[in-house]
Amino acid sequence: MTREPRQSFDFMTTNSARTAPLQEHLDLAIQDLLASFPNPDQLSPHDRRGIIARYTAVLEGNFIYWMTAANLAVSSDEAHAIIHDNLLEEVRDNHPGMLRKFAIAAHAVPTDSDALAVHRPLQTVRWFVARLSGAKIVLMMAFFEGWITRFMPYLASLAQHQGSAEREYTDVHGVVDVVHTQELFRALGAELSRLPAPHPPATQLLEGVDLLRTLIQSIVHPADPPIAA
Ligand SMILES: [Fe+2]
Repeated sequence: MTREPRQSFDFMTTNSARTAPLQEHLDLAIQDLLASFPNPDQLSPHDRRGIIARYTAVLEGNFIYWMTAANLAVSSDEAHAIIHDNLLEEVRDNHPGMLRKFAIAAHAVPTDSDALAVHRPLQTVRWFVARLSGAKIVLMMAFFEGWITRFMPYLASLAQHQGSAEREYTDVHGVVDVVHTQELFRALGAELSRLPAPHPPATQLLEGVDLLRTLIQSIVHPADPPIAA
């Protein structure tokens, strides 16, 4: 009768040991990103609008699609259940609509120029996602959720400087994504436990994280002039 809980405990311990170094790496990457962002007080209205607009261009149409790709790519029941719950919340609570409302209120609806400024790194992430590599996509989405949560005060500050009082999107995502991130690390552990030994090195697993980090950098520090390729 004691055998099942012991197996479950061992399983969790092993998975935590596998994912802890990756989680640490992602925490540092998020800290570095945030530290590289300019102070909203010192940006022009044009630059503040641009960051909100490019963030919207990247998130609005891609987040649910990439989380859906994660759902298609994973193989464990545990990861499927976690990603399913994440998607359900995104769709049921209309997060894209919430973001669009935020962008409209800040007068930062994305234009052609905003879309073109993030076009190339966005396409690169899309091609990575198209390969449907389960553990790598889950890790990328854990990074995305973790970064989004910690970016919300900055995004809210940009909008406030632009005269917007709309806060639903930033309030909701500053809270829910903390839980989502932890759940995605649990999904990652489940996926890694199914990979045949030896496991791929961290540098390989972090491929999507690195590509997404480049995309996020282009949201805050856009290519100038916008790249039309
Ligand atoms: Fe969301």
